[in-house]
Amino acid sequence: MSNPQKKIILAPSLLACDFSNIRSQLSVLHEAGAEYLHLDIMDGIFVPNISFGQPLVKSLRNSCDMIFDVHLMITKPERYIDDFITAGADIITIHAEATDKCLSVLKYIRSKGIKSAVSVKPKTPITEIYSLLDYCDMVLIMSVEPGFGGQSFMPEMLEKVKELKKQIDNRNLDIDIEIDGGIDITNAALCVSAGVNVLVAGSSIFGKPDIAVAARDILESAKGVL
Ligand code: DX5
Ligand code: ZN
Repeated sequence: MSNPQKKIILAPSLLACDFSNIRSQLSVLHEAGAEYLHLDIMDGIFVPNISFGQPLVKSLRNSCDMIFDVHLMITKPERYIDDFITAGADIITIHAEATDKCLSVLKYIRSKGIKSAVSVKPKTPITEIYSLLDYCDMVLIMSVEPGFGGQSFMPEMLEKVKELKKQIDNRNLDIDIEIDGGIDITNAALCVSAGVNVLVAGSSIFGKPDIAVAARDILESAKGVL
């Protein structure tokens, strides 16, 4: 089931970083091989937590060359797409549950020259987004209930990944599969063998004394070399 032609990418989640030391932590992680920066935007309505918004994304853009992977956990994301593009997003993920305009929002994101992605919460069946796949560059499978870092990985989400991977392959589409929530060295390789190629990791990187080692360990375990 693994997808050898897709590069495995690590996306550290900013939510768990040391906010007094963001710039240096990001440069250490980029150097360690993390290509994406996962930015969790929460509005206190779609999820029961508030994080940060476009001003922070914009200010990081000046000093960070990583690919900005913006995960919008906000209701009616169509209201803020332009703002996050202006702030420097390279990929924007919206939640299937957050709007009834998914298709047009995904098309709009692409029309602006950046990558579009859709995410599903753990209880949302993956079949709900099959009609959107032609308009997605990536699908984000949540492996925890969105809203907070530091939760435990839900292993049953691997079945969802496998189903999605099968659908993508059957339709000959070129779509990345990202997973988010509770990812660490114990499950990264399982995710990749189910079909994932983009791994988000927050506390399993920033919660470690040496974040560069933690990032390399996750990447290597995902590639099956640890
Ligand atoms: C949860 C967020 C995640 C979170 C992951 O709603 O979408 O990106 O930061 O954190 P960990 O890796 O600690 O589960
Ligand atoms: Zn996220």
